[in-house]
Amino acid sequence: EKCVVAVDGPSGSGKSTVSRRLATRVDGVYLDTGAMYRAVTWAVLQAGADLNDPDAIAKIVLETELSIGTDPAAPHFAANGTNVDAPIRGVEVTQAVSAVAAVPAVRKHLVSLQQAIIAAHPRIIVEGRDIASVVAPDADLKVYLTASSAARAARRSAEDASDVAATEADLARRDKLDSTRKTDPLKLADDAVEVDTTGIGIDEVVAYVLNLLNS
Ligand code: CDP
Repeated sequence: EKCVVAVDGPSGSGKSTVSRRLATRVDGVYLDTGAMYRAVTWAVLQAGADLNDPDAIAKIVLETELSIGTDPAAPHFAANGTNVDAPIRGVEVTQAVSAVAAVPAVRKHLVSLQQAIIAAHPRIIVEGRDIASVVAPDADLKVYLTASSAARAARRSAEDASDVAATEADLARRDKLDSTRKTDPLKLADDAVEVDTTGIGIDEVVAYVLNLLNS
């Protein structure tokens, strides 16, 4: 039976950890759409394109050959034949990704790749910012994860050993860009269940969502 779960939310809300565990628990696959935006951003930086030139960005993104891993235990990504698992988490990509993701032609291209992957997998957990509203409006369950900005920054800096204050500033910067951009801004869909994960353990969030899925 087809089962598509949309997990949206801002940075550090616990989306990736929760989505990967959910995918494992339902014996399904996992799609990290943020990693797709990050991988094409890596290609844009590699090509030396001007980040203020949307046409130049779109051209490179459309020419980039992506390999998109969906195994929740090891979701590996490659761009133009190069493994990008490490660089897509680096500061250069993190700095540039919101600008690349704001280009409408980039979103159109990646959304259609995402929809093809969803169509090919009967059980899939998809995480991102526009999954419930744009990518999979017919998802069986839509979850929107939130958390206080302090909790989100603390989580992210524990993951990558970065400075908490700098991380909080970076998350605030990206949240603002992502939620105010003209094309498909991050927002809570009308039919999504909002889960505030501040002070709640990942296991509890996963159990709660599994419960929603089974009810
Ligand atoms: O660092 P974090 O996990 O929050 O971000 P991510 O999920 O890896 O996404 C990185 C960036 O990609 C976001 O800041 C957005 O600009 C963009 N993105 C998007 O526009 N739409 C999505 N469905 C997923 C990510």
